[in-house]
Amino acid sequence: MRTQIVHSGAGELSYEIRGIVDLAKKIEAHGVEIAWENIGDPIAKGHAVPAWIKDIIKRTIERDASFGYSPTRGVGEARRFIAQHRTAEGGTELRSQDILFFNGLGDAISIVYTYLNEGARILGPSPAYPTHSSAEGAHARQHHLTYMLDPARGWLPDVEDIRNKVRYNPTIAGILIINPDNPTGVVYPRAVLEEIVAIAREHDLFLISDEIYAHLAYGDEPFVSLAQVIGDVPGIAMRGLSKEIPWPGARCGWAEFYNTHADTDFARYAQTLYDAKMLEVCATTLPQMVLPQIYADARFAAHLAAQRAFYKRRAQTAQDIFAAVPGITVVKPQGAFYLAVVFNDGVLRDAQTLPIANDAVRALVEDAVADAPQDTRFVYYLLGATGVCTVPLSGFNSHLHGFRMTLLERDDARFRHICETIARAITDYVAAND
Ligand SMILES: Cc1ncc(COP(=O)(O)O)c(C=O)c1O
Repeated sequence: MRTQIVHSGAGELSYEIRGIVDLAKKIEAHGVEIAWENIGDPIAKGHAVPAWIKDIIKRTIERDASFGYSPTRGVGEARRFIAQHRTAEGGTELRSQDILFFNGLGDAISIVYTYLNEGARILGPSPAYPTHSSAEGAHARQHHLTYMLDPARGWLPDVEDIRNKVRYNPTIAGILIINPDNPTGVVYPRAVLEEIVAIAREHDLFLISDEIYAHLAYGDEPFVSLAQVIGDVPGIAMRGLSKEIPWPGARCGWAEFYNTHADTDFARYAQTLYDAKMLEVCATTLPQMVLPQIYADARFAAHLAAQRAFYKRRAQTAQDIFAAVPGITVVKPQGAFYLAVVFNDGVLRDAQTLPIANDAVRALVEDAVADAPQDTRFVYYLLGATGVCTVPLSGFNSHLHGFRMTLLERDDARFRHICETIARAITDYVAAND
C-alpha cells in the first residue's frame, strides 16, 4: 500500500477464547468429540432461558416500538429503572442521564478505550479479560499495563503494587477492576475496593469497574459495587444482560458514569463516549425494553439464586478434583463461571506431550505448538488427546502459566468427567519426559 494502512496497535489484538476454536474445529473434523470449555456462553452450553422471560420478550416484540431506534443514551424506562435501583442499593447517586447503552459490553469496552486520549493509560488486572487488555493495548500502541492478581492471595491484587505503578507512571489515568473477575472468579472485598478508590482519589484518576457478573457472586465474599465505594471519585461501572438472563446474543450492556460533575475532564470524556455512540445512533432496542420488566419481576431473584447455587456447586466439584493434583494451584471461584488453574513454577517444560493416537490430530497439534508458550502447548495437547477445549492463561495477558475452563457444563456426571479428564491429563503431562 502507498500509505501504511495497518493500525500501529494491531499487534495487541488477540482473543484466544475464540482463537483456539480454529484448531478445535480441525480436530473435531477427525472425529474427536470436543468439550467446549473455552467460551463463557451459557446458551451454547445448554442453559435454558426461563419461559417467563421468553414470554416478556414475546409480548414486547408485539410492540412496534421494539423494532425502532431508541434514544442514543438508551430507552428512558430502562435507564430510570437502573438508576433507581442502583441508588437504592446505597452509595453514590446514579442519575438516568448518566447511563449509556451499548451493543454489549464488548462494544462499550471498545469505545471506552478508543476515545481515551492517546497518552492516557488504564492499569488493568493480570490475568486480564482480553477484550479490555487488547483494546487498551491497541489504543496505546503498547502492551497493556497490568497489576498482578495473585493466586497465592486468593487471586486478590497486591494493592501496594497498584499504588507503586500509579505513583511511578504518570501516564496512568485510570484503574480497571473486573468484579467478579474473569478468568479468576475472585470477588473483591469492600476493603480492597476502598483502597483502590483511595489510590484513585490521591492520584486524581478515574475507575472502571466491569460488573457484568455482579449478580453471579456465590462465595463467602458478598459482591460490593463500584457505586457503593466510589464516593466522590469519577468512575464508570459496566453492566450487561449477557451472563445473568442469560442473553449474550442480545448484545446489550451499559455504562454507568459516576461523579461526572466532580471533574471537567471526566465530564468531557463521558460526553465524548456519548457523542461516539450517537454516530452509531443507538444500541439495540428490544433488550432495553424488556430489561425493566425482567428485573422487576418477582421471579428474577429466584432465577439468579438458582444460577448462583449451580455455579457454587460446580466450583466446589472442580476444587475437590483439582486440589488432589500435584504441581498446580487452584483457588475456588467466588463468582462468575470460570476456573483458572495455574501450573506451579518449573512444572512445565518444553518437550512435554500427551499421547495422541490419531496421526492426523497429532500432526495438527505438533504444528500448532511450534513457538507456543508453555501453557498453550499443554492446552493444545489436552485438546488433541482428550477433546477438552480450554484457554491458556497466557491468552489472558498473564505471565502465569495455566488455563481457564468454564463451570457451565449442565450435566453433573459430564462436568465431573471433564474435570477428571483434565486432572489426569495434567498428571500425565507433568510426568512426561521426567
Ligand atoms: C468480564 C467481561 N466483560 C465483558 C464481557 C463482554 O460481554 P458482552 O456480552 O456484554 O459483550 C465479558 C464476556 O465474557 C466478560 O467476561
